[in-house]
Amino acid sequence: MLCQEVNMRKFLSEFLGNYAKNQTFRGHMPGHKGKSLLTGLESAYAWDITEIQGADSLFEAEGILRQAERQTAEVYQIPATCWSAGGSTLCIQAMLAQMKAENRQIIAGRTVHRAFLNSCILLDLEVKWVYPKSGGVISGNYELLDFERALQEAEKPSAIYVTSPDYLGNMQDIKALAELCKKYQAKLFVDNAHGAHLAFLKENLHPIALGADYCCDSAHKTLPALTGGAFLQMKDASKVKNLKQHMQMFGSTSPSYLIMQSLELCTEWLSQGGKLKIQTCAERIQALKQKFQEKYYFIGKEPYHLTISANGEKLAEELRNCAFPVECEYADKTCIVILLSPVMEEKDFQILESALEVCEPYPAEKIPELPAPMKQAVSFREAGLAPFEVIPLEKAENKICASVQVPCPPAVPIAVSGERLSKDWLQLMKFYGLKQIAVMKLT
Ligand SMILES: Cc1ncc(COP(=O)(O)O)c(C=O)c1O
Repeated sequence: MLCQEVNMRKFLSEFLGNYAKNQTFRGHMPGHKGKSLLTGLESAYAWDITEIQGADSLFEAEGILRQAERQTAEVYQIPATCWSAGGSTLCIQAMLAQMKAENRQIIAGRTVHRAFLNSCILLDLEVKWVYPKSGGVISGNYELLDFERALQEAEKPSAIYVTSPDYLGNMQDIKALAELCKKYQAKLFVDNAHGAHLAFLKENLHPIALGADYCCDSAHKTLPALTGGAFLQMKDASKVKNLKQHMQMFGSTSPSYLIMQSLELCTEWLSQGGKLKIQTCAERIQALKQKFQEKYYFIGKEPYHLTISANGEKLAEELRNCAFPVECEYADKTCIVILLSPVMEEKDFQILESALEVCEPYPAEKIPELPAPMKQAVSFREAGLAPFEVIPLEKAENKICASVQVPCPPAVPIAVSGERLSKDWLQLMKFYGLKQIAVMKLT
């Protein structure tokens, strides 16, 4: 069925709108009782409720929330979706809990978000890392053969985890990874936090469409949804109950109805022309890239990540302070990421183009090569939950990395919990602007 043909109902909006209008005394949470503390936020407070009669309950959804989730799955044309008001982070926790329940060996591409590492700490999971052949520590290009080798060496059924698109918009070959997983009866799960829109490009590049078993989509990153709104997508609809059970283990018992309503509105937007907007906007972005191809060197395959190879820190400063101010998503000494979205209008593109015209790209510094892997001295869990002290990088050689403290964005850990820190990796951290690190406090 074509996306536009989905006849959507706004279950949540209808319920919340009616409740906001009627005079029922709110003898229930939240404590604001629908009264705003700030002019301009009146409807947000009035529509912000909790699990009252008729409003369903996200982790045990059988009513309006489940119906609304089914509509999201239908719009994406995939078997099942669970909503998250706790971002992709909650989805990653749930996907990993499912892999733990299936007793699978996790094989992960090293360029993970810290949500992955923290989930492994909480679930006491061990990970076999696959390192990128090029690209670096935040974004990497992997060899399929390295994943295959890891699958061959695994002593039990496995699951491959990759981040795609990554923070810079670099994408992995999900189709090939899915085929590989099939060959070894492994599961494939994808951190697609940056790719909620991929199902609606001219060529459907959504991980589930390409054969992945599970993925998380941060609707709030590239689609019009409130911060925290995400979709946990899956190939096997019979697993919804399991995944919801895992989500409730990590998520708040009070998921925000405002965030959930924004997921419904986002789904409706997709079904009412949003898909087309995603395609036309992608074409407009391509035209922008072509216009500036002599001046800027664009990297990354994902269209909505406008990633420029340049000294991003300097370019970000110029863009922020020019006559057409632009605040970017991420910048370091090797690149800058300007994250775009299909809600952009022509006037937004014109501001961006004017800014790109007046600014100058300073040359990018060379991305350092990844040093030889560090030794995992103790488990993620032991190190991640151990007493720690924060010390300067210069004093950290041979100490054991404790819980990771990496700035967000991009929140990609350089060393991970439990690794014995080598000089070269500490040097890499310094390159990315880190000054100190939490190490295990040995008693
Ligand atoms: C690659 C990646 N994965 C996961 C996450 C976590 O997503 P969320 O903020 O929706 O919890 C982020 C957040 O920036 C991310 O960049």
